[in-house]
Amino acid sequence: MTTKVSADISAVHMPGDIAGRLVDPKAYGQWDQLQQDLTWLRREMPLSVAAAEGYDPFWMVTKYNDIQEIGRQPGIFANNGARKTLIDRNFAQRAEAIEAEGGRAVNRSLLTMDAPVHMRYRLVTAAQFAPKGVKVLEEDIRGLAREAIDAMEGRDEIDFLNAVSHRFPLRVILSLLGLPRSDEDMLLAMTQRFFNPRDEELAGEQTGNSIGATANHDILHEMYDYFAAIVANRRANPTSDVASVIANSTINGELITEADAVSYYLTIATAGHDTTASSTAGAVWALAERPEEFAKVKADRSLIPSLVNEAIRWTSPVNHFMRTALADYELRGQQIRAGDWLMLSYPSANRDEDIFEAPFEFRVDRQPNPQMAFGFGAHVCLGQHLAKLEMGVFFDELFNRVEHVELAGEPKRIDSISVGGIKRLPVRYKLAG
Ligand code: HEM
Repeated sequence: MTTKVSADISAVHMPGDIAGRLVDPKAYGQWDQLQQDLTWLRREMPLSVAAAEGYDPFWMVTKYNDIQEIGRQPGIFANNGARKTLIDRNFAQRAEAIEAEGGRAVNRSLLTMDAPVHMRYRLVTAAQFAPKGVKVLEEDIRGLAREAIDAMEGRDEIDFLNAVSHRFPLRVILSLLGLPRSDEDMLLAMTQRFFNPRDEELAGEQTGNSIGATANHDILHEMYDYFAAIVANRRANPTSDVASVIANSTINGELITEADAVSYYLTIATAGHDTTASSTAGAVWALAERPEEFAKVKADRSLIPSLVNEAIRWTSPVNHFMRTALADYELRGQQIRAGDWLMLSYPSANRDEDIFEAPFEFRVDRQPNPQMAFGFGAHVCLGQHLAKLEMGVFFDELFNRVEHVELAGEPKRIDSISVGGIKRLPVRYKLAG
């Protein structure tokens, strides 16, 4: 049951214009302005309240150490169902009304669950997503990386995000879940509209797919039917893929329900590709603007793991997750009250001057680099080892083929409050031999 959040918080409020931008999807497409706001907040009001029209007030957590402190205490700071991401008051009230009538307002997933249930579900796939578990996919992943990079052959300009990096992680997920390649276009269209219903370009019909719904709940229905058929199939014919592991898992001695198995697939399918594709493109964007950093990795491939880590810090494709305080708690000298809502800003933590030397510099050899783009604590990204493996293999293959890269137009970030990242990256390049 979702815990009700406070309608008012009597503590220090940030300026109204910044609060207004923090709830505006378009502001996240304007990355430089966003970073200016976050830098100002870290310096002047590292923990303050945002009160924006149409939204319940929330604490804006901008400092790395504060996000860690919150992440260490999942018993006090809960994900709280639909409240796990920023939703407006209307949506929240509708969700609460559905729950009050005994319904399930949101798709129940790892991200909406809290202790102790959350850990039981997370353990179902812990082995598959551990470093050893993902390593077995490496050769498959290398083939898929080569195939993605093949799109660069025979030309010298490309939208790197859409033509090269976007499909690659999606294909890895298809292979991980054991889904046919022919479902790729449909899954891509569904997840783009699921994540970006407010980005006019990505939520529309640009994929050419026939699915016309744009509201989030319609997309959920379509995805449900698709994945329910997979659950039934894997129960009848179990294989070794992750879809089978989930469909045949038991929670507290009972077979997982169809709805929970479907939600599990959905979370993996949606969480795992835009994030990784954006972080990969984010590195290419940064390298295209910094030939000296490109040259360093080209000359020394042992820098690839550190390039990957820096790319993920630099891009920070997940803009936030929310937590709800279940008890009073003092943080940074301020009194958080039970019921208060908090936004954890990963892009801000990843530019925190107290943690990162010269945080606004992109350094392929940054050491140490404790980037926090994967979050922190009980909900830390389940797919982090897979994402790093994919990106490492991809860059190894890319540096085999690309001699030079530069921007060929203006890159664009996604207008989205939650999972953002990059939606366009025009580059000009020269391939080897
Ligand atoms: C660079 C790529 C990625 C980034 C930046 C990223 C980021 C995140 C973040 C910030 C969270 C929430 C952490 C928190 O609340 O503390 C998360 C959770 C999650 N991620 Fe990722 N992710 C990436 C790739 C992936 C991949 C490849 C997969 C799977 C194929 C994946 C699956 C998940 C799942 C299932 C969760 C929920 C975990 C839980 O609630 O226990 N992610 N991710």
